[in-house]
Amino acid sequence: MKSISIGEIQIQNPVSLSPMAGISSLPFRIICNGMGAGYCPTELVSARSIRYNGVGKSLRYMRISPEEEGITAIQLFGSEPDDFSAAIETIMDTPVLKEVSIIDINMGCPVPKVIKTGSGSALMEDPERAASIVRACKRTLEGAGRPVPVTVKTRTGYNAEDCGKPDFARALADAGCDMLCVHGRTRPQMYHGESSIRAIAVMREAVRDFDIPFYANGDIHDVESAKRMIGQTGCDGIMIGRAARGNPWIFEQITSGLSGKEMPDPPDEQARKKMLLRELEGRLKYLPEEVAVREFRSVMPYYIKGIPGSAVMKVRLVSATKEDEIKEILELV
Ligand SMILES: Cc1cc2nc3c(=O)[nH]c(=O)nc-3n(C[C@H](O)[C@H](O)[C@H](O)COP(=O)(O)O)c2cc1C
Repeated sequence: MKSISIGEIQIQNPVSLSPMAGISSLPFRIICNGMGAGYCPTELVSARSIRYNGVGKSLRYMRISPEEEGITAIQLFGSEPDDFSAAIETIMDTPVLKEVSIIDINMGCPVPKVIKTGSGSALMEDPERAASIVRACKRTLEGAGRPVPVTVKTRTGYNAEDCGKPDFARALADAGCDMLCVHGRTRPQMYHGESSIRAIAVMREAVRDFDIPFYANGDIHDVESAKRMIGQTGCDGIMIGRAARGNPWIFEQITSGLSGKEMPDPPDEQARKKMLLRELEGRLKYLPEEVAVREFRSVMPYYIKGIPGSAVMKVRLVSATKEDEIKEILELV
């Protein structure tokens, strides 16, 4: 795949980590960047919460490190243009956060709690509001004197029968969205069933006349599925979600596979256990041990999946409370 530009930001490798709540921690994103991912957005953060509570509560979800990550992206969700403007003003007034490279807007989250507020995928039913959110973000960033690009991540439909929402995609591009990423499932599918390459292609075609890059997402888990997605949608970039959990090596594998280079060997058991520990140590830098370990419980099983004895290890890991305990379970002491 060719390098691309999102606004004025150059992306060398348009193979990115897809934002995932609970997974896209700063240390994990740094690891994925190190494996060649083009950039790795934060998980979704509430624009309204930033507006009314400041960055305090939300910082743990949108912590970025431009020095270690290179290109950074913060994903916001919400339904009111004013909430986005206020949140961006706060971000632009906050040390480190104000260096963010990209602001991404979540218009795909299918979770009822989020939809109830008119946010996430609910915005697909209200293209005018969605467009006004993009415009508000752009205006606020221009006002702050930083040409930070605004991107949108969405789905192929709000209703089960939808097969792409071309008008919605065009409304976003027309409002000035600098990149569109589409996950090939509709809202009711959540994360089940197949991601539709055909529906993604409909969205891709809809914005072909706009000079913006298009990322495709959904069910990419190896070089073959990446090639299929690129070949059949004509996308400029891809985002990888679930297949990257506990498996940051996927970025070097897919990147080498796509460029026709020899694939690196898959990581052995020891490398996987050490990577688990590396992410945990990263989390411990900014969270108390008890919180870091508790939050990491749901992530650890992905790192050891398939390793002999992993079922027993998993049972112990998901009730661990301390780093030392985890080292002992993994026999890394
Ligand atoms: C646990 C989990 C959390 C997610 N959180 C987010 C999120 O915060 N923002 C977002 O845009 N998408 C989120 N997603 C959706 C993914 O980014 C991605 O679109 C979806 O998993 C499909 O890609 P995949 O088949 O490669 O996993 C999440 C998905 C999962 C499984």
